[in-house]
Amino acid sequence: MTSHKHVESVGFIGLGSMGIGLATNLLKMVQQNNGIMHVHNRTAAKADPLLKQGAKWASSPANIGQQCSITFSCVFSDTALREVFTAYLSGHPRQESLYIDCSTVSPDTIRELDAKAKAAGLTFICAPVFGRPPAAMEGQVLWAPAGPAHALDRLQPYLDAMGRGTMRIGNEAYMASVMKLCGNFFIASVIETTAEGMTLAEKNGVSRETVLEFISSTFPGQLYPMYAEKIARNHFHLSPEVPGARVEGGLKDVGLIQSLATECGVQMPLGKLMLDHLKEAGDCGWTDLDWTAVTRVIREPAGIHRED
Ligand SMILES: NC(=O)c1ccc[n+]([C@@H]2O[C@H](COP(=O)([O-])OP(=O)(O)OC[C@H]3O[C@@H](n4cnc5c(N)ncnc54)[C@H](OP(=O)(O)O)[C@@H]3O)[C@@H](O)[C@H]2O)c1
Repeated sequence: MTSHKHVESVGFIGLGSMGIGLATNLLKMVQQNNGIMHVHNRTAAKADPLLKQGAKWASSPANIGQQCSITFSCVFSDTALREVFTAYLSGHPRQESLYIDCSTVSPDTIRELDAKAKAAGLTFICAPVFGRPPAAMEGQVLWAPAGPAHALDRLQPYLDAMGRGTMRIGNEAYMASVMKLCGNFFIASVIETTAEGMTLAEKNGVSRETVLEFISSTFPGQLYPMYAEKIARNHFHLSPEVPGARVEGGLKDVGLIQSLATECGVQMPLGKLMLDHLKEAGDCGWTDLDWTAVTRVIREPAGIHRED
């Protein structure tokens, strides 16, 4: 006999590249347990695949707030999250509802929304996600949530349905946002070092493929080989077959990292350098390319011109 978990009324706001994958796996779990999931996205058409699978359309975040005791959001920026959360609160969600945000945003925004949630009798959890859109669709992301332990316990079965693991960061929601920004700093620095080192090698007659082979055998693991392959083979144009994160997102994230560092007096010269390179890439009109396209900014002054 199949045993069903008790699932709460679940909502999901923000069905972009990451949100659609996360929500797809959450919907499967909710349905397996005879529950109902409500979804909302600013651009309604993006909800179609989920509605075809049985999710219910919610006309606004407020509508989600009225119907759901556990609500997830995954939106682009701090501004988007503030807008969505304000609208959600206007639906007067039930006391003790959980609101879980999975976006990459600043600790200040999380502190502000956490306080608003508490004032309304709700619990706010920051649950940033590590992994790219295909990992979200495959239920293979890594969660790094923070918030009160009892709320994280309540949340865990839902995170399990969408990810390969959970690393609890702390009991204050904003801490998860700090961890996410640090995680993205490590990733951005892998891109920067790979782009610079590969350019130096290429300028001196050692091919990008040779450097890729060296990196893959010297630093086996996920990160360096993955980004080295993108850089060596100019996989800068994103598509479902070439997944990644856009320069626009890199600008947002490294900008948030630099703001946090400035606010708390931590010197991050590497962060500043990466932000300058991302800004240059943005100025060249490459905001929709993968953020490894900063490599072009490094290659140009070396006299290695674009061939893609
Ligand atoms: N892509 C990655 O590899 C990755 C990995 C980990 C974490 N993240 C983080 O996850 C979050 C979502 O990323 P993504 O790749 O899914 O971005 P995306 O594809 O650009 O989707 C952004 C989502 O935010 C919504 N949105 C933007 N501005 C809004 C506003 N003012 N009001 C309401 N909704 C708004 C969009 O709605 P519309 O559809 O109407 O535009 C869409 O649902 C970001 O914070 C990102 O940093 C991304």
